[in-house]
Amino acid sequence: MSRTVLVVGGGGREHALCLALSTSASIDEIHTTPGNAGTEHYGTNHNVAASDIAGLVNLSKQLDVDFVVVGPEAPLCDGLADQLLEAGIPCFGPQQVHAELEGSKLFAKKAMDAAGVPTADYDVLDATSDIDAYLDARSKEPWVIKRDVLAGGKGVVVTADRTEAVEFIQQSIETDGHVLLERFLPGEEASMLVVMDSSGYVCLPPSQDHKRVFDGDKGPNTGGMGAYCPAPVVTEAIHRKTIERIVEPMFSHLSSMNIPYRGVLYVGLMIDENGDPYVVEFNVRFGDPECQVTLPLIDGDVGELLYAASNDQLSSLNVAFHPHHALTVVLASEGYPQFAVKGRSIHGAGHGSDTSETWVSHAGTARDEENNLVSSGGRVLSVTSVAETLQKAHDLSYQRLQQIRLEGSHYRTDIGHRAL
Ligand code: AMP
Ligand code: GLY
Repeated sequence: MSRTVLVVGGGGREHALCLALSTSASIDEIHTTPGNAGTEHYGTNHNVAASDIAGLVNLSKQLDVDFVVVGPEAPLCDGLADQLLEAGIPCFGPQQVHAELEGSKLFAKKAMDAAGVPTADYDVLDATSDIDAYLDARSKEPWVIKRDVLAGGKGVVVTADRTEAVEFIQQSIETDGHVLLERFLPGEEASMLVVMDSSGYVCLPPSQDHKRVFDGDKGPNTGGMGAYCPAPVVTEAIHRKTIERIVEPMFSHLSSMNIPYRGVLYVGLMIDENGDPYVVEFNVRFGDPECQVTLPLIDGDVGELLYAASNDQLSSLNVAFHPHHALTVVLASEGYPQFAVKGRSIHGAGHGSDTSETWVSHAGTARDEENNLVSSGGRVLSVTSVAETLQKAHDLSYQRLQQIRLEGSHYRTDIGHRAL
């Protein structure tokens, strides 16, 4: 097999996808759009934006790709998979009807209700006059407020501060017409990435992200500051419950529709003190940075796995995993997540220093006119290591990070703390 693939997106997740595809015997040629200064190492970067659906379909046709792997959620919510399939091009990433699982929290709640999947109870508010009565009735625990639109990680507020709650609810109702209010679920979070098509599904090893910007899970939420895999909080018993109570019912629910779900279903879990898993959110794509720590643990041809899922052939694959541990630490720009100082030189992140144990995934990186590596986003890069123990993967990643210099940058020093 010698397939050509187009990877859509330009973050650390897409770098990780390109790296995994580059070591896949089934993949001959990799194209990325828009990519970043890291993905260019594995193939050709193109300049079609991930939001330009018609442009992406045209590019796929021009390149005569065998399939397209979509990294971010927005183009899926905008119907990229539908348009590609109409053009006869297989797509790893679900069609618009299913992408609503991420695009609309209310849609996801209704799907979970229909499938009988455990999740927090919720109410929908659409009148600002109801806010005080609601907040009074539920004042014993933090309020969980969720906008019902794609909000790039800024759509959820969990707070015990009444003024903040009122403001966010009011703004959300004004802009979106309504807002979701969920019961607070106490517990520990984990991410389960499930590769799915109409023929079956494969659960990848569970991982854990670190969403807050500062050590000790303090500060504002980010896209994710680091992750490790596997996450021991998901014990074998909890893994089994997650499959029985969440993955199987969702697979049946999605399979009962006449449009197959092809891609990854990202199950964001909250595990309570009794070891019972609840769904906090669904995403319709690989997590970032979960992708960086999950793909390296797949013992096999990742290109074949993604191609199979794009073609309803998953059930014919046997997927095995390495008994290793992976840990990734994100390096962010000065100011992130509130803002990001961009355009600064990055030193020590060159591909030449990558080894099979430790490597850099680029995210917000670009080249200046002199071809020097510069920062171009909030999350700039991440350092990933794979080792026999989590401690070793942790140490390798932090050692490599010491060699990278970017003025004003910051990273968490406690990635993996819950497991170490
Ligand atoms: P979401 O985008 O729905 O995953 O929410 C973002 C973050 O808010 C999650 O990763 C959790 O840390 C937190 N969160 C969301 N829903 C709840 C809930 N019902 N109870 C407690 N924390 C939550
Ligand atoms: N790391 C969380 C996400 O990708 O949504």
